[in-house]
Amino acid sequence: MSTAIANGEQKSRHQEVGHKSLLQSDALYQYILETSVYPREPAAMKELRDITANHPWNIMTTSADEGQFLNMLLKLINAKNTMEIGVFTGYSLLATALALPDDGKILAMDINRDNYELGLPVIEKAGVAHKIDFREGPALPVLDQMLEDPQNHGSFDFVFVDADKDNYLNYHRRLLDLVKVGGLIGYDNTLWNGSVVAPPDAPLRKYVRYYRDFVLELNNALAADPRIEICQLPVGDGITLCRRIK
Ligand SMILES: C[S@@+](CC[C@H](N)C(=O)[O-])C[C@H]1O[C@@H](n2cnc3c(N)ncnc32)[C@H](O)[C@@H]1O
Repeated sequence: MSTAIANGEQKSRHQEVGHKSLLQSDALYQYILETSVYPREPAAMKELRDITANHPWNIMTTSADEGQFLNMLLKLINAKNTMEIGVFTGYSLLATALALPDDGKILAMDINRDNYELGLPVIEKAGVAHKIDFREGPALPVLDQMLEDPQNHGSFDFVFVDADKDNYLNYHRRLLDLVKVGGLIGYDNTLWNGSVVAPPDAPLRKYVRYYRDFVLELNNALAADPRIEICQLPVGDGITLCRRIK
């Protein structure tokens, strides 16, 4: 049982997803944000984060510390051709776009264009909108269509998956062909609000309980997949990096 669930005080603080970190100390998380993240956050990302804070579904946005992590990761791997599944208002998309070279590309997919358009003016002002090819609609058919063209196989340096958790394994089956050997796939929310270690009677919100089994299944499948190396990090809601090795 996790400390968060065993400890009554922590439970009341962390049962809502509003806390975008799995750290067991709010003060420590605040320290990280105030010392290392907010002072270095690009102005455009702050503006987008502020706009998103007023959205009724603001809980969905990528946290500022995870945005900073993605931005550095993309630079470290010299990513150029990337994909994002699950855009919302575009915080992780902007973190990606700012990290890519001027001729870098992001194929960005979401079933909802309205939320993307909320963030788009900020992305345009930041001068990186030309890197983004946004497609409205479910991601799976787009992946299937891409797989029909052999030129797309092994063509992506990085893919960030932050959408419908019940489809992550369907994405994984397809993305492993689309990402290059040595390339990375990042699956977000793989600790799913800490619920991956919750006992059966834990008071979980309905949607957390619903998706938990899919997240557990994904984590087991990734750990057993010989085509990838993995690293699961407790950043944000948990991100598992998968490096394709064959
Ligand atoms: C957690 S939010 C993404 C947050 C985003 N990465 C950010 O930084 O703000 C999940 C998004 O996935 C989208 N989504 C859900 N099902 C989808 C699907 N089948 N294909 C593409 N996007 C989907 C939702 O519309 C929602 O905007």
